[in-house]
Amino acid sequence: MQPKEFLMIPGPTPVPDAVLEAIARDPMGHRTKEFSKVLVEVTASLKKLAECNGEVLMLTSSGTGAMEAAIANTISPGDKVLSCICGVFGERWAKIATAYGAEVEKLQVENGEPISVDALRDKLQADRNHTIKAVTITHNETSTGVINDLHQLALAVREHGALCIVDAVTSYGAAPIEFSHWGIDVMVAGSQKALMLPPGLAVIFMSDRAWEAQASCTSPRFYFDLAKYRTSLEQETTPFTPNVSFVVALKTSLDLMKQDGYRGIYVRHDRMKKALRAGVTGMGLKLFVPKEQYASPTITSIVPPTSISVDALRRTMKERYNIRVADGQDALKNKIFRIGHMGYVFERDILMTLSALEACLTELGYRCPSGIGVGSALAVLSTPASAAT
Ligand SMILES: Cc1ncc(COP(=O)(O)O)c(C=O)c1O
Repeated sequence: MQPKEFLMIPGPTPVPDAVLEAIARDPMGHRTKEFSKVLVEVTASLKKLAECNGEVLMLTSSGTGAMEAAIANTISPGDKVLSCICGVFGERWAKIATAYGAEVEKLQVENGEPISVDALRDKLQADRNHTIKAVTITHNETSTGVINDLHQLALAVREHGALCIVDAVTSYGAAPIEFSHWGIDVMVAGSQKALMLPPGLAVIFMSDRAWEAQASCTSPRFYFDLAKYRTSLEQETTPFTPNVSFVVALKTSLDLMKQDGYRGIYVRHDRMKKALRAGVTGMGLKLFVPKEQYASPTITSIVPPTSISVDALRRTMKERYNIRVADGQDALKNKIFRIGHMGYVFERDILMTLSALEACLTELGYRCPSGIGVGSALAVLSTPASAAT
C-alpha cells in the first residue's frame, strides 16, 4: 500500500472532499429552475472574486479553450496584436492569435524575468497611429514561476487604448485581481487550478469594451460564440449542455473560498510561497525567479543541484513519498523543477514537501544540514499570518 498521491504540480491540483462529493451526485437537468439558481449564484461569486463589474461566462473546456474564445471573439484577421511573452503560456496567446490571422508582434523577455512595464509602455507609445488592437498578458507564467505586475501592465495598455486580454489561469483565486478597476477587458481562468476542481471548466470575463469588439469581430466561431452565452445567461441558462456537475461543484468550491475570505486565501498563498522559497534556499538550492516581488504565489521553480537530474529527483519524490512535482517545460525541461502550491494546499503541505525533498536530495547524494529546509520554512511561518504580505 502507498500513501495517497499528492499533487504538488501547477495543476491539476488537489480537490476538497466536499467538491468531489458534489461532482459525484447525479447531474441536474440543465433546463431546470434548480440549475438556473446555481448558475446565477456561481456567476455572481466568480465576478466577486475577480472584482468584475462586467460579465463572466463558463465554458466546457480547459483554459486554452477560453484563450481561443477570447481571441475568436475580439480579434479579426489582419488585426495587430502585441503579445507579452515571458514563457510558454505567453507564447500560446501569440500562437492562437496567429492561427486566427492576426499580425502578431512580440514583447519577449528571458525565461525567469517578468514583463517590463516600461518596455510595454514604450512599445505602446511608439504606436502613434494606434494600430495595435489588443495586448495579451499572462498574469502568472506557469512555465517559469513568474507573476507579472498585472495592475501596472493593464494601466499601460489602458493609456494606449488597446484591448487588454489576460490569462489568469494560475493566478485567479490565489492572487488579488481587480478586473474592472485595473481596466482589464478579457480574462480567462480554468477550473483545475486555484478554483479547486478537476480540469474541464473554463471561465471568461468580458468588459463592455470587449463586447463592443465582439460585435464587430469577423473571426469564425460557433461553440465559442460568446454572444450566445451572454444572451442565454440573461435568461439564466446556457446555449448548450453545460458541464452541470462541475458548475454545481464550483458553487461548493466558491462557498468554501468565501468562508476563508478571499484576503485570507491570498495571504495563505503568499505565506506558502515565502516558506517554500526560504526552505529551498536554506537547503542551498537556487531559485529560478530570484526577485521575490515577481515570484509566483502558486508555483515555485527551482534549479536542482548540478549533480542531480530533474528526472531522478522527480522519480525519487514519486517513488519514495508519492509526491508529484513538475518538470520544466520546453526549453526549461530538465533544467528546473516546479512545485505547485495553489488552491487546496496548505502550510502543512509545504513542510511535508520540503521534508520529502530534503530526504530525496540526500538519497541522491546531495548534502545539506539535516532539517535545514523545514527549519528555514518554519522561521517564515512562525510570523503571524497578517504580517506575511
Ligand atoms: C498560465 C496558463 N495558461 C493557460 C494554461 C492552459 O490551460 P489548459 O491546460 O487548462 O488548457 C495553463 C495550463 O497549465 C496555464 O498554466
